[in-house]
Amino acid sequence: TRTVVTLDGPAGAGKSTTAREVARRLGYRYLDSGALYRALTFALLEEGVDEAVWGDLDREALDALGVTVAPVEGTLELGHRGRVLGDELRTPQVTARVSAVARLPAVRRWLLRHQQALGRHGRLVTDGRDMGTVVFPEAGTKVFLQADLDERARRRLLDQGVRAPGARERQQAAEKLAARDHADMSRETSPLRPADDAVVLDTTALDFEEQVEAVVALARR
Ligand code: CDP
Repeated sequence: TRTVVTLDGPAGAGKSTTAREVARRLGYRYLDSGALYRALTFALLEEGVDEAVWGDLDREALDALGVTVAPVEGTLELGHRGRVLGDELRTPQVTARVSAVARLPAVRRWLLRHQQALGRHGRLVTDGRDMGTVVFPEAGTKVFLQADLDERARRRLLDQGVRAPGARERQQAAEKLAARDHADMSRETSPLRPADDAVVLDTTALDFEEQVEAVVALARR
């Protein structure tokens, strides 16, 4: 599986924008694994499933949530009961709950099937938390994207259209990222960590083009 490129790392390190562009340049398919966790989180909230029972969800219950995963145009289209999911996946409500969903072993097992099925077609760039460690341990190129917390907070706010955040706003954004990183690193199943054979790339001082080129160069090596 030289043709699988994985990008893992903490929230706001620029994984998804980088992965999407790397996939375009290489002509590979793109899988945003975080969007899968977000789609399940969205469905749980939308269907009003009480958070107290999330830990009891089994495969049948997850199947019954109405989430659909369809391969289209080089990527995956996520849906919920006929509604195509886009911006719904990135609301503050979903973002605040997604790590609690991602912690559930049944959820991770359920999603593993979908993710690995895509990998079987080969030529895939994918980003997330455990793509290099668990989902595609045989991937030919593994990158762990890192960046300073303050810089990640700045980028996250920029994504949300906040160009000149105040110190307090920046602090709050950093705290949210740090809390999610902590949850992702400390869970029992598939915690966030670099694969032993991953190249760690710190993007704090890189611009978008530099970071895309660095990953493309590793993939072509
Ligand atoms: O884009 P951002 O870094 O904010 O997050 P994301 O990639 O959309 O992932 C959202 C959440 O899903 C993460 O905080 C993890 O809790 C979970 N996730 C995971 O556990 N494993 C993955 N492979 C991808 C995401």
